[in-house]
Amino acid sequence: MHILVIYDTKYGNTERMSQLIADELSASGHEVSCRRQSVSGEEDFVGVPLWVIGSPTHWGRAPFRFNTLLRNAAKDAGSDHDFVAFDTRYENMHSGAADKTHRMLVKAGMRPLMAPQHFVVEGSELRQGEDEKARQLGRTIASLL
Ligand SMILES: Cc1cc2nc3c(=O)[nH]c(=O)nc-3n(C[C@H](O)[C@H](O)[C@H](O)COP(=O)(O)O)c2cc1C
Repeated sequence: MHILVIYDTKYGNTERMSQLIADELSASGHEVSCRRQSVSGEEDFVGVPLWVIGSPTHWGRAPFRFNTLLRNAAKDAGSDHDFVAFDTRYENMHSGAADKTHRMLVKAGMRPLMAPQHFVVEGSELRQGEDEKARQLGRTIASLL
């Protein structure tokens, strides 16, 4: 299956999680494009049946430009697409970017493959163990396809 892993990142942590997830999906035999928001456009989503979306949490949500890109892509793509939303955030945050993205895409008619996922950042670094959690998420997504 063709899969788009698309992410935003400021300090590189969400990029790292995205790359690990993309690597696992590729290793499972899928055709994966792993792209950063700043060099992507709505055309990258077209015709791709599964979108894996990774976002840092900024003020409780995805950064504005990324959110706009996702909203427009969902509007253009129609409802026949699956997605997984994940974010990076501080510990003990009840809600983050993935929760809002998840709700927005469900509202647009897209099908979530699973509940929103998150990874914890401590200071400016990922908490220990998050790399393996990302690899596991990649394997879990692959097992659902
Ligand atoms: C402007 C700004 C706002 C942030 N707001 C939140 C927030 O509301 N909740 C939270 O859990 N983390 C917040 N953070 C921390 C980010 O979640 C963290 O920097 C991010 O996960 C790092 O991802 P990155 O390395 O991919 O940029 C904020 C960070 C920045 C720079």
